[in-house]
Amino acid sequence: MDNFTYQNPTKLIFGKGQMEELKNEIPQYGTKVLVVYGGGSIKKNNIYDKVMGYLKEMNAEVHELSGVEPNPRLSTVHKGVDICRNEGIEFILAVGGGSVIDCTKAISAGAKYEGDVWDFVTRKEVPKDALPFGTVLTLAATGSEMNAGSVITNWETHEKYGWGSPFGFPKFSILDPENTFTVPKNQTVYGMVDMMSHLFEQYFHPQTNTPLMLNMQEGVLKTVIETAPKLVEDLENYEYRETILLSGTIALNNSLQMGITGDWASHNIEHAVSAVYDIPHAGGLAILFPNWMKHVLDVNVDRFVRMAVNVFNVDPEGKSDREVALAGIEKLREFWSSIGAPSRLADYDIDDSKIDEVADKAMARGEFGNFKKLNREDVVEILRNSL
Ligand code: NZQ
Ligand code: ZN
Repeated sequence: MDNFTYQNPTKLIFGKGQMEELKNEIPQYGTKVLVVYGGGSIKKNNIYDKVMGYLKEMNAEVHELSGVEPNPRLSTVHKGVDICRNEGIEFILAVGGGSVIDCTKAISAGAKYEGDVWDFVTRKEVPKDALPFGTVLTLAATGSEMNAGSVITNWETHEKYGWGSPFGFPKFSILDPENTFTVPKNQTVYGMVDMMSHLFEQYFHPQTNTPLMLNMQEGVLKTVIETAPKLVEDLENYEYRETILLSGTIALNNSLQMGITGDWASHNIEHAVSAVYDIPHAGGLAILFPNWMKHVLDVNVDRFVRMAVNVFNVDPEGKSDREVALAGIEKLREFWSSIGAPSRLADYDIDDSKIDEVADKAMARGEFGNFKKLNREDVVEILRNSL
């Protein structure tokens, strides 16, 4: 393992009826509150009314930023920064999925910065201050509710990058499984693919002597694989939603990444694809990840054999290590297809016409990937195999 320091300051408030805790949490930070949300799902499922009710009870001065896009855009972050500055906002409350939370993280840092918040996303500057913010999570997927990362898209230049800062941790995150009951089947599937991808990104790491991390990652993977097929058939089942909601948080709150770097190349390629085509993040991952696996298989066949046997119950009897490894990757593909995830870029009408543009974007920060460093040729090959 590598040396590491672990600190996660986010207070996790989990369970039925826990939204009421907003009344105890928000007043610690101020009364002028900006509520950030997406395209309106929270109005249809009553979460909006409940949040506004609690804010009213605490006599908060409420401002709103609605319309945060899936794959949140810099232009929307700018709108939020303007509101914070003009209205003297003291606290930001994100109510939504990863996109709303990521947008809020950028607003919170941007509000305390003279220049353009894009400087943080492109890593030209680091935040030195930020407005405090909390979240009410409505979709299990990204882990953004308990990590310091954020992914922002500049739609004018078609760039989408992840960035992070110690200021990116929410002060608190409220996770009520009932708030995820209305997530439609396709988004529910995307969320589960995303959390599994986070686990795979961490599972394929270059460090040695990491048995605890590997066993824990496998435990969460198996839990999601066991629960996912039941949840897609029973979207309002509290127990399945509860299991998946916690899995998404654990998968990317850094507790499964102690002493390891993870790989993160598939995420980098996916961000380049969705910068050009604006497809759902996890839709892209479901397509790309198995092809990345096949591309890097020989770096550490044993790790893939381990995944095949421990996670996907492949019987190794009579097979070579390579055959077992490939069977595991095939099982992953089959599993994702069985719950309704896409498997080819063609599923989003993406052909080879912009492969160069996507590859250039993926390479914008140079070679990447910790399990195996990928160069431009590697990226093009993975993209071609994904068509
Ligand atoms: O916009 P509304 O109307 O709210 O609808 C949303 C949106 O259309 C809907 N939704 C959310 N909660 C719902 C609901 N619909 C019904 N009932 C509910 N309770 O779901 C749609 C997708 O929401 P979004 O927030 O975009 O999804 P997700 O949580 O998957 O976030 C995706 C974004 O997060 C980034 C991705 O790149 C992408 O931009 N990521 C962020 C990470 C992080 N910060 O750590 C890591 C991830 O790897 C990822 O890259
Ligand atoms: Zn992801």
